[in-house]
Amino acid sequence: MDSLKVKFQFNDLQLEAEKGSNLLQVLLENDVDIIHFCYHPELSCSGNCRTCVVKDLTSDTLIMACQESVDQNKKYENKSENVVKAAQWAYEFHLVDHPLDCPVCNQNGLCELQDFSLKFNRMEKLGQHVYTWENSASAVALTENLFFHEKRCIMCTLCVRFLDEITATHELGIVGKGDQAKIYPFKMLNGNNYSQNLVDLCPAGSFGRQDYKSKFLTSSLEEVQSTCIGCDTGCAITVFQNSIGTYRVKPCFDARVNRSWMCDYGRTTIDNVSGPKRIQNYVKNEKGKISFFPLEEMIPFSGVSKVHVILTCELLNEEVETSLELLKENKFNPLLFSWPIDPAKGDSFLMSKNKNPNYTGAEALFLQKGLVHTHLDFEQQLGLIQETDVILMAIPETMHDQKYFEFILSKIRKSKLKIAMSVYDNPMFLDTFDFVLPTYSFLEKNGTSINKQTLERKYSAGYKYSQLAKSVPEYISIFRMGK
Ligand code: SF4
Ligand code: SF4
Ligand code: FES
Repeated sequence: MDSLKVKFQFNDLQLEAEKGSNLLQVLLENDVDIIHFCYHPELSCSGNCRTCVVKDLTSDTLIMACQESVDQNKKYENKSENVVKAAQWAYEFHLVDHPLDCPVCNQNGLCELQDFSLKFNRMEKLGQHVYTWENSASAVALTENLFFHEKRCIMCTLCVRFLDEITATHELGIVGKGDQAKIYPFKMLNGNNYSQNLVDLCPAGSFGRQDYKSKFLTSSLEEVQSTCIGCDTGCAITVFQNSIGTYRVKPCFDARVNRSWMCDYGRTTIDNVSGPKRIQNYVKNEKGKISFFPLEEMIPFSGVSKVHVILTCELLNEEVETSLELLKENKFNPLLFSWPIDPAKGDSFLMSKNKNPNYTGAEALFLQKGLVHTHLDFEQQLGLIQETDVILMAIPETMHDQKYFEFILSKIRKSKLKIAMSVYDNPMFLDTFDFVLPTYSFLEKNGTSINKQTLERKYSAGYKYSQLAKSVPEYISIFRMGK
């Protein structure tokens, strides 16, 4: 049965929505500018910040938009003096106790208190503030990389509701009453793989990541929309970066996949993109003597009888497809590396036990070409490698299982010439490969993958952090043609 639509009025707007919809949500979806702190569409409604005040013109009373269900012919407004003052007072009460230490707060630039200060023309209040050390000193560590700054809290209770309703782990609660009420950590959050969502959720900067401290202001960074490669859930993400580095990642709302959340592990997948381990040169290993060399010196594959090209399930569909097209000749043996699937590494929320972000897409492309693709096929093929064969291997960007990777390396060691294409450096690579060549990270590529729900996921290229890097198909093309 179709849901019942109702029409109602808000200021001068005639709006239509499903009967019973949350008024604040309908207003936000229609781009109405309305102050709110404690509302989140994925969480229950607490109505305790008292800022989303509107007037119900039918009953001539002030109500909270987040607690109102829309109905036919209702009329609301939030422009009259009384309503504007009520919202401003509620907002001012939140600022009374909030230390205005924006210059040292790592939510600076992503802060809803700042956003509404600008709207209410109250930035001069923030500007008058003198930073005091006690404010920052009150922060406590909840995990190795998550601190809680109780003095910044405006008691919106979003954090408590997230831990009660989404992760059901209940680490935080409220103690005290009235203006003495405060958020209290009953347990540490060390075992909670979703704890960093609190940083994104808190409108007042009370939660922060240790490793964001003293980094660039988020407001000075550019945003790139992409997909996490930590597992085959494929959460939509927003990455904050500039020409020097990639600093921060947040979940991006996707109703079909991750909604508003992502796991903590997924946030670490950007660490090698611009970090100190990023490979910046073509590296040669001659019996332990390491040197840099110009790519033109690389031996082309002409004259070689067998080349095993190992692709990974991290490569995007477009890269796998182009690579397979380039590897049609008999002397090439395209293989597909995937991490073993371990049920213990997944959970019942977002984190998948399958750590191969494009497992479905890469497997389908291999199948289309009638190529071996399963985990066991792959290991069996490695057993057939001869000393005279050449190995060209794309190294996975995320190291999920070092022992398994070492096992794979032990199988290819007997080949006379081994070339790795990698985003980052690891002593293990130079122990095995004769050449290590820089390739693009997932944040430097445009393209698509297919997640476990068989949904297409999109990747957008941001800044490039390795000047000499080339894509896997580019390397295949260069060696194949002998250029
Ligand atoms: S810590 Fe942040 S999210 Fe939690 S109640 Fe306070 S302001 Fe809200
Ligand atoms: S659930 Fe998987 S895709 Fe989503 S953030 Fe975590 S590791 Fe990344
Ligand atoms: S958003 Fe409605 S009371 Fe807080």
